[in-house]
Amino acid sequence: MTAVGIHDLAIATAHHVVGLADLAARRDVDPGKYLVGLGQESMSFPAEDEDVVTMGAAAARTLLHRTGADGVRWLLFATESGVDQSKSAAVYAHRLLGLPPSVRAVELKQACYGGTAALQTALGIVHRDPAERVLVIAADVARYALHSPGEPTQGAGAAAMLVSADPALLEVEPVSGVATADVDDFWRPNDASTAVVDGRLSVSAYLAALKSAWDDHRARGGATASEIDRFVYHQPFTRMAEKAHAALARHVGLPDGERLGSGLEYNRRLGNTYTASLYAALAALLDGDDALAGRRIGLFSYGSGSVGEFFTGVVRPGYDAVRPRDEVTRALAARVPLSVDEYERLHAARPTGSADAVTRRVTDGPYRFAGVRSRARRYENTADRPSAAAEQGGSV
Ligand code: CAA
Repeated sequence: MTAVGIHDLAIATAHHVVGLADLAARRDVDPGKYLVGLGQESMSFPAEDEDVVTMGAAAARTLLHRTGADGVRWLLFATESGVDQSKSAAVYAHRLLGLPPSVRAVELKQACYGGTAALQTALGIVHRDPAERVLVIAADVARYALHSPGEPTQGAGAAAMLVSADPALLEVEPVSGVATADVDDFWRPNDASTAVVDGRLSVSAYLAALKSAWDDHRARGGATASEIDRFVYHQPFTRMAEKAHAALARHVGLPDGERLGSGLEYNRRLGNTYTASLYAALAALLDGDDALAGRRIGLFSYGSGSVGEFFTGVVRPGYDAVRPRDEVTRALAARVPLSVDEYERLHAARPTGSADAVTRRVTDGPYRFAGVRSRARRYENTADRPSAAAEQGGSV
């Protein structure tokens, strides 16, 4: 069977950053709770002219500069913080990226699981025709109410992946385990801009989905735990990955061990990026370990509501030369810090409606949300080589 998997991967962050030690001081909480108890150091926060489209397109732009778009006929955009009930974020990103009309553009949703749904769909498309490549974007803004328990687990960012035959980074193996259960642990009603969450239930639902997906994976002939060299988990906060790994180790009777590697490094600083979180964790693992060639990685994806999936991939030889290994660290370091006062003002002012408005120019990223005109969202391509299509319809 042709090897199919992730050929390249790029991560984007929002423009701003909020330090969790600062937030803890303002909320009168011991900083140890956020920094150690949740395992979070900071959270990316979007400027007013950023959203999932601008961040997702920025990640894809970095990726496509390396890979080109030859053979791409699908753009699958996963998000749970989409910008329209009908038009997909993929169509906006398609124009910003200057992709040809012969590329389909679709959005997928199932909470944080959507990125994995897009990846699995892409793998199927490439298995059908190995000449095709699929662009997958996963982007989210994790927003909880100010002063809520979820507040320190906010974040914002995007992952873009090119899925192809004979991939350069990770061959995804065909067996995976799935667990779907109707649970009210976390959701966002159509009239709400922040998530509704039962935090305790969400943690237990995550762990139940992990065990159930693992059992399905094994029942279908998937690798045993001792055949898996590293584990990467969806990270609503990085401590959750440690809890998940300990729970899985108990479930399968393995010593807990040190198999998370460097996979927590980016999400500690990004915060929760929902659909992108697992793939930011994968990027952190690949960037932080130069001895992974030929090693098997187990990946667990969880989306509240809920769907979980456990799958595996084998790292390809030469993977460490595919992407600049300091690319994400540089992007994280370039974020512009917000004081807690500025963050609270920006949180309260986040535009959610469809009334006409012009947004202030803040982000220095390649794309920006310019505002709403005639009730439609307008995006600008501020990249050095704007596509003709972007010039046509890109400004308010
Ligand atoms: N020093 C060190 N650790 C400390 C501490 C201190 N001073 N004070 C507290 N802690 C520890 C606690 O012991 C606890 O650790 P354990 O869980 O290992 O016992 C940890 O800090 C967190 O403390 P609490 O459990 O008291 O925190 P909380 O109840 O205020 O909030 C939460 C936790 C409910 C998960 C909250 O962050 C939340 O609602 N988050 C959003 C929902 C979420 O992320 N759920 C995760 C699963 S769902 C999912 O994965 C999908 C998704 O992306 C949302």
